Amino acid sequence: MIIKNIKPYEIKEAQVTKESIYKERRKFINTSASLVLGMMGLANSQESSTLSPESDAAKNFNAKSKDSLIYTQNPNYKESTITPYIKATSFNNFYEFGMQKDDPSKRANILQTSPWDVVIDGEVENKMKISYEDILKKMPLEERIYRLRCVEAWSMNIPWIGFELGALLALAKPTSQAKYVCFQTAVQENMPAIKHPALASFIPFPYIEGLRIDEATHPLTLLAVGMYGHILPNQNGAPLRLVVPWKYGFKSIKSINKITLTKEMPQTTWQKLASEEYGFYANVNPNVPHPRWSQASERFIGDGLSLSRQKTQMFNGYGNEVARLYANMDLEKNF
Ligand code: MTE
Repeated sequence: MIIKNIKPYEIKEAQVTKESIYKERRKFINTSASLVLGMMGLANSQESSTLSPESDAAKNFNAKSKDSLIYTQNPNYKESTITPYIKATSFNNFYEFGMQKDDPSKRANILQTSPWDVVIDGEVENKMKISYEDILKKMPLEERIYRLRCVEAWSMNIPWIGFELGALLALAKPTSQAKYVCFQTAVQENMPAIKHPALASFIPFPYIEGLRIDEATHPLTLLAVGMYGHILPNQNGAPLRLVVPWKYGFKSIKSINKITLTKEMPQTTWQKLASEEYGFYANVNPNVPHPRWSQASERFIGDGLSLSRQKTQMFNGYGNEVARLYANMDLEKNF
């Protein structure tokens, strides 16, 4: 009951400081999560301690980092600064594993990433279930360094390894009725938020995201299977995740096992939670503030303390490539 009354995404404007949006959200969620865990008698149990052993995270990292991928580098997507690997893999949002930024790196080692199949169904001529291995056999991989801008006003530059989503969708042959693409994250029983629903009862899992078909088949839209030269760490969405660099990070859904092409606009997780705050489009836009904070600038997570802020760019700097998708659209209404 307690957790149902708490809406963790409701941070008051007064709580939002230059660099503390996510910290406030985390503090708030943390308090309610500990309350619930305490009530459930889990806070000091063996179970709760085995959920987040540092050593497992380290083991997971070491095992995964040995697995390299074969790929070419795409010279069109370069950045002068890259976020250090350690930060990109220890400061994450993956709510299935907890609400704190370091929960996914501590807990996502329990994600079972093999065997892994992806179902592609809905408005397609060839409904299919394709294994991760078969996807890798069919899709030539390339590295692209993309900017990632989170709705919480922080950003990173990440070298992803992946392939264009459009190439995978083409295998399934979308029908003329396919107007949208709906993505789903796998639900596994041992995920902390699934095992203990009270821990995150305000989030309806499976995590769902969606794109318009022209966004999904845009050449910038990637399905990533790796980063920094290696296969994706679990906390970053192994074995495959979406990367849509001109949209806020929450659109880039992790650990996808189902892709459904639809006639209607799908209802996404964040729209179900707070549609007045998180729209379907979620295009990075410095001119449209979040109801409780400005989106005009962001804290870039690079080397060092990263206390300075940089200006947020329209469409995260990818306007030349994607602005045409939204010609004649009111971006304030369709945020
Ligand atoms: N996908 C799933 N399944 N669950 C999540 O909680 N969080 C989203 C997105 N994809 C999320 C998800 C959010 S809010 C962001 S900002 C990015 O993942 C973060 O990606 P990163 O942890 O690799 O930086």
